[in-house]
Formats: sequence, C-alpha cells, structure tokens
Amino acid sequence: MNATDRVMQSYGRCCASPAFFDDFYRHFLASSPAVREKFLNTDMAAQKLLLRQGILNLVMHARGMPDTKLRALGCSHARNAMDIRPELYDLWLEALLKTIVEHDKQADATTLQGWREVLVKGISVIKAGYDA
Ligand code: HEM
Repeated sequence: MNATDRVMQSYGRCCASPAFFDDFYRHFLASSPAVREKFLNTDMAAQKLLLRQGILNLVMHARGMPDTKLRALGCSHARNAMDIRPELYDLWLEALLKTIVEHDKQADATTLQGWREVLVKGISVIKAGYDA
C-alpha cells in the first residue's frame, strides 16, 4: 500500500472514532494561549465539521487533487484576514499527530510518517498564502 493510501485509511478510522475532533481541539487549544485566543468566539461544534473537510482536503491534495481548496484556506488564514501566524501550524500538526496516535490503534510508524508528509505538503500551500 502506498503512503497516501495508508493515510486515507487511517483518516477513515479517525473519523469513525467519535471523540476524534473533540480530542484534537482539546490538544490544539491546550498547546498555546495564542491558539485559544483565535477561537474565543468560535462555534466549536461547527468548527469540528469544517475541520473534518479541511483535513480531507489536505489528504486529497497529497493524492494529486489541485490545490484550489488549500489556496482558499491560505486566503482565509492570511495575515490580512484571520492572521494565523505560520508557527501556529507546527502546534496544529503536533496536536493532530498526537490525536491520530490516540484514535487510530493501527497507525504504525510508516503510517505516521506518511501523515507527516501529507500534512507538511498541504500546510506549505496554506502558509504560502499568509503574505500573498
Ligand atoms: C477556520 C482548516 C490551521 C485557526 C478554518 C476553516 C477550515 C480550517 C476549513 C473554516 C473555513 C475558513 O474559515 O476558511 C484549517 C486547516 C488547518 C488550519 C486544514 C491546517 C492545515 C489553523 C491554525 C489556526 C487556525 C494553525 C490557529 C489558531 C482558525 C480560526 C478559524 C479557522 C480561528 C475561524 C474560526 C471561526 O469561524 O471563528 N480552518 N485550519 N486554523 N481556523 Fe483553521
């Protein structure tokens, strides 16, 4: 199985795990006051549904889909919009990997490495929009 197939299957198991997105935001919000500040006025139930699709966009991009959706996220997260500073994506990535390990009991080292590559690739597209 290739790396992005492994990641796709792992994501399926994560999405089937009821508390996956709750736990992700618990870890992510705990990672820094700068993250908590950004979500002060957010409807977190709605945000969890949006993120489900957002992660799928990252995985699909790594599987060859055009980067249109990620570039749109780059615009909404840009300095002149929500101003999500580039270093916050490191916290996002580590919170997500931690949550994947907790919820996908089949995720071995190869799968996690695949995830890291998929996420880094997509995040670089979003970050490229920060000052664009
Ligand atoms: C909104 C995805 C990273 C903060 C959103 C939305 C999506 C999304 C799909 C809703 C649509 C939109 O507003 O464009 C992602 C993905 C990320 C990421 C896939 C990583 C690759 C981050 C990071 C932060 C952040 C690092 C830092 C705190 C926010 C905030 C909102 C948002 C504050 C708006 C919440 C609201 O409506 O109140 N994100 N995001 N995101 N994101 Fe991200």
